[in-house]
Amino acid sequence: MTIDIISVVPDLLNGPFSHSIMKRAQDKGLLQVNVINLRAYTTYARAQVDDYPFGGGAGMVMMIEPLVNAVEDLQKNKIYDDIIFLTPDGETFHQKMANALSLKNNLLMICGHYKGVDQRFRDHFVTKEISIGDYVLSGGELAAAVLTDAIGRLIPGVLNDETSALSDSFQDNLLAPPVYTRPEVYRSWRVPEVLMSGNHRLIEEWRHEQSISRTAARRPDLLD
Ligand code: ADE
Repeated sequence: MTIDIISVVPDLLNGPFSHSIMKRAQDKGLLQVNVINLRAYTTYARAQVDDYPFGGGAGMVMMIEPLVNAVEDLQKNKIYDDIIFLTPDGETFHQKMANALSLKNNLLMICGHYKGVDQRFRDHFVTKEISIGDYVLSGGELAAAVLTDAIGRLIPGVLNDETSALSDSFQDNLLAPPVYTRPEVYRSWRVPEVLMSGNHRLIEEWRHEQSISRTAARRPDLLD
């Protein structure tokens, strides 16, 4: 799978994909992440990519031309399954979206900045608008990193133990159960006995009950 990300601050995305699971996914050839500098596609002086909003008002708006230049140049080499615009007014990202997007071949993500992008670009090029939550970030880069991580780890073969994504929180609309490791007793705090029993059926039952009670306590909306 390839994920191309168009940004005006590409350096912001240097770190997130260079470590841990995202690095392994790329080293294995299962995921390719390319960060594209939007300023390389502007024809305006001083690499300008934004301008004042028509009608007045505060803030700058990203211009349509550099964005279209970038998208159409990238489309010469590949067909995108989705062109995703990261924006606080998009659909809120969740695990089911991550599952669906992990089955695609080529994704293009556009990171918004300033007061947003010219609506004509959204109308004519963007196929999905996604928010990572009800708060406003300085730009779409961190949101693109969140999506890429959540999607990338679901690509078959990326995680060592293929079943481990299945037991993640949200995979079945339940939060994950608590986990424990050595030592068995720490400052008199004991690991629940059932986990030391060696009885896998009992352990699975216990984990499922814990998932349900944790979800009921913390996220009752997921059980509706
Ligand atoms: N850009 C700014 N805030 C955002 C958010 N919450 N989600 C996605 N993109 C954003």
